[in-house]
Amino acid sequence: MTASAWWFHIPITLTCMLVLILAACSPSAPTGSGSPGPGPTSTPSALPGLPPQTQQGMTAFNANCSLCHGVNAAGTTQGPTLIHRVYEPNHHQDFAFRNAVRSGVPSHHWQFGDMPPVPGLSDEEVDSIICYVRELQRDGGIIAPDAPATWC
Ligand code: HEC
Repeated sequence: MTASAWWFHIPITLTCMLVLILAACSPSAPTGSGSPGPGPTSTPSALPGLPPQTQQGMTAFNANCSLCHGVNAAGTTQGPTLIHRVYEPNHHQDFAFRNAVRSGVPSHHWQFGDMPPVPGLSDEEVDSIICYVRELQRDGGIIAPDAPATWC
């Protein structure tokens, strides 16, 4: 090898550095520190194949509930994940969701504090939110086979 061969390595070194920089800067999944449950944390931009009502529920959920319950209902430091056995239909049937939205929930399962009532949602919007959460629960495999029927 000749002494001049060193510069051959410059493009390789630069490429390596670029790859490292890109890897370091690429958006890593937000960890949601203190999140009470595992779950996907990125915002699903579209859920192909889902009924329109479930899609509408996702929009309403993200606007009204995700602040505390997290994107994809995965939970935050302000509220629990809803993709949890505690919230599948055996334990929290659909009316529990309607009650929670209308009247709020005193803290009883966790240490997040009380859930305040969420005003401004129509019955249809609340029902569509239930559809969305039940869909996430089905996806998460936490709805027991013998669970009571959910309306959606
Ligand atoms: C300001 C924060 C906050 C917002 C906004 C919020 N929640 Fe909650 N929610 C909570 C907390 C905290 C709890 C847990 C209370 C406990 O059991 O300790 C809870 C509990 C619940 C429960 C369980 C009710 C029960 O009977 O135990 C349901 C269902 C629920 N939320 C649905 C919703 C839906 C649907 C929305 C949006 C329309 C929403 N929440 C918005 C904080 C929030």
